[in-house]
Amino acid sequence: MKYKTIEIKLTKPLSDREIAMLTDFNVGLKQQRMKIEFDNQRIWLLLREIDLDRLRDLHHQLAASYELPLTSNPVALVLQKIESIKSYGIRSGRRLYVDYNKERKVVNRTGKEAKRGQFFYALDHNFNRDIHELPKSYLNKIICGDSESVLKNLPDNCVDLVFTSPPYNFGLAYQQSADDQFWQHYFEKLFRIFDECIRVLKFGGRIVVNVQPLFSDYIPSHHIISNFFIQRKLIWKGEILWEKNNYNCKYTAWGSWQSPSNPYLKYTWEFLEIFCKGEIKKPGQRQDIDISADDFKKWVTAKWSISPERKMKAYDHPAMFPEELVKRVLQLFSYQNDVILDPFNGVGTTSYVASRLNRRYLGIDISDEYCQRAAERILQNC
Ligand SMILES: C[S@@+](CC[C@H](N)C(=O)[O-])C[C@H]1O[C@@H](n2cnc3c(N)ncnc32)[C@H](O)[C@@H]1O
Repeated sequence: MKYKTIEIKLTKPLSDREIAMLTDFNVGLKQQRMKIEFDNQRIWLLLREIDLDRLRDLHHQLAASYELPLTSNPVALVLQKIESIKSYGIRSGRRLYVDYNKERKVVNRTGKEAKRGQFFYALDHNFNRDIHELPKSYLNKIICGDSESVLKNLPDNCVDLVFTSPPYNFGLAYQQSADDQFWQHYFEKLFRIFDECIRVLKFGGRIVVNVQPLFSDYIPSHHIISNFFIQRKLIWKGEILWEKNNYNCKYTAWGSWQSPSNPYLKYTWEFLEIFCKGEIKKPGQRQDIDISADDFKKWVTAKWSISPERKMKAYDHPAMFPEELVKRVLQLFSYQNDVILDPFNGVGTTSYVASRLNRRYLGIDISDEYCQRAAERILQNC
């Protein structure tokens, strides 16, 4: 069997008790695809697939039965070493060390990729690469107004990332905007605002839209919005499922009970659609990256389990998204010091998290009250 081998050099020879502990540890590894070998100067780890939590339990049991301190015994050394290895795959909660990055075998992959081409729908864009500064009067500001007209005051190509969740037209009680429009009018207005977002976005910049379709009206908003950006020649980078683990539908709302005539489908998640203007890679300085290796590894798996925001009553806003969602989007898709725009800023979750993460921000909302709350939220937490 193939293993990844790691060597640990010991600073002092193993005592008899430590040797017995390591021997027992090896016996306890039966369920793991891992083993250890050792002599008086070294321990070798042979790793294939492990369940780290089980190893930790085993370590606790052995430390107790051999009466060795939990932090200083040879199995603790083994665990520390395993925890320091950052390259591994994950399958059903187990860490994989062998062949986890082997791609499916496709003969002449590069030739086939070249033949297929990438994002054909966006190749004939005419975005220009000039970069402009966001005017000082809009920098780190919460602006109250209709985004369609506010954004017209900004120069082209002055924003690095747009992250927003537009009103979903579900009929929520926002302070200053109707949320129950005829669908066609709703999308026409939304797309006039998104057209401005595309214009102010820098070449290489990104737009991330959090959206929940209204299933009961049979309106696939996430597809309609994605289709709009594709028609505008943005590159679809991907989609994240935000798993909220709640039901957007009452348990009793079945459509047609136990009949195929019209069952309702129930969803516990929303979508994040991600688009790039001009190119997939976003230029930036290495020192402005602020995502840890562990978070990067977790968050590129595009299903994020995050509970819905619980502070909506306190902020008196019916549809806030949680700070954790913003944090992940900003750290995964933008650099520190980038300019982050939210044209439907609500009570300022995007702007607040951007300021906390050393990004610059501009938040726009049509409601005076929401804007005031957003500004206070940022001030209080500075
Ligand atoms: C889903 S909420 C966004 C909530 C925000 N993500 C948060 O965490 O607070 C949508 C927001 O869009 C605002 N809005 C609706 N129409 C607008 C427009 N034309 N221009 C600017 N804001 C608008 C509403 O007032 C509402 O606060």
